[in-house]
Amino acid sequence: MSHRTLFIAGNWKMNPASRASAVALAEAVKAGVGADTSVHVAVAPPALFLEAIDKAIDSSPLGLAAQNMHWKADGAYTGEHSAAMLLDAGCTHVILGHSERRHGMGETDAQVNLKLHAALAAGLIPIVCLGELLAEREAGQTESVLQTQLSGSLAGLTPEQMGGVVLAYEPVWAIGTGKVASPEQAQDAHAFIRRTLATQFSPAIAARVVVQYGGSVKADNAHGLLSCPDIDGALVGGASLKADDFLGIIQAAQAVTTHEKARA
Ligand code: 13P
Repeated sequence: MSHRTLFIAGNWKMNPASRASAVALAEAVKAGVGADTSVHVAVAPPALFLEAIDKAIDSSPLGLAAQNMHWKADGAYTGEHSAAMLLDAGCTHVILGHSERRHGMGETDAQVNLKLHAALAAGLIPIVCLGELLAEREAGQTESVLQTQLSGSLAGLTPEQMGGVVLAYEPVWAIGTGKVASPEQAQDAHAFIRRTLATQFSPAIAARVVVQYGGSVKADNAHGLLSCPDIDGALVGGASLKADDFLGIIQAAQAVTTHEKARA
C-alpha cells in the first residue's frame, strides 16, 4: 500500500468571473470536505481572489494554491507576484510550470527552476507540472521529454527539499480536451517519473514524492486513475469549477484510501 496521502487540487485557471462566484465555490468545497483529512485537498483560484478564498476556507483543512509566481523577492516586474505576497494572501501551495504557462507563455525549465527554489525558500509547497505534447507522445518521446523537464525544473534541489515538492504529470493532449490518459498510460508515465527521481535524488525520496495526474479528470474516471500504484492524486481543471463534480473526485480518492487502509 502506498504511504503517500492522496492529494486532489482544483486549478480554477482564469475562472470564475467574479469574486462572489469564487467564494461560493470555495464554500461549497469546504462544506463537502468537512473535517476529513484522509485525502489532502487544495483549491487554486486566480490571484485576485486568493485573499477572499483564504477567508472563505478559514478553519478548514483545505490548502490554498496560487497558479504562478515570480522568483524575485521584489522589484520592477510588472504584473507579477512574489512568494512573500502569496504567503501574505494565505497561500500554502503554488502551481509552477503549468503547461498553459510553458506552452502559452513560453515559460522554460530554467524559469520553473528559479521559481521552485524561491517557493521552497519561502515555505510554499510547490506543485511542479510536467508533461508531453501529443506530437511528442506520437514520436515516442514521452520519456525523454519528462526526463528533460525533471532534470531542468528540479535542478539544484537537495533530496530533503525534493521530499517536499509535489509533481503533477499533465499530458498536454489530455488537458481540457476530454481525452483522459488511460490508467495504464498514466501509470507508465508516473512510474517513469518515480524511477527518474530515484536516480536523480534517491529511492527513499522517490518513494515519498506525491505525483498527481492532470488532464480531463472527472468523477467517473478518477477511481481508475487513483487506484494506480504511482498515481497519488489529481490536478483538476474543468471539473473543479463545479463543487459537486470536484467533490465527486474527492470522494473517489477517499474511497481508494479507505480501500487501501482496509487491505493494509
Ligand atoms: P482539465 O481537467 O480541464 O483537463 O485541466 C487539467 C489541468 O490543466 C489542471 O491543471
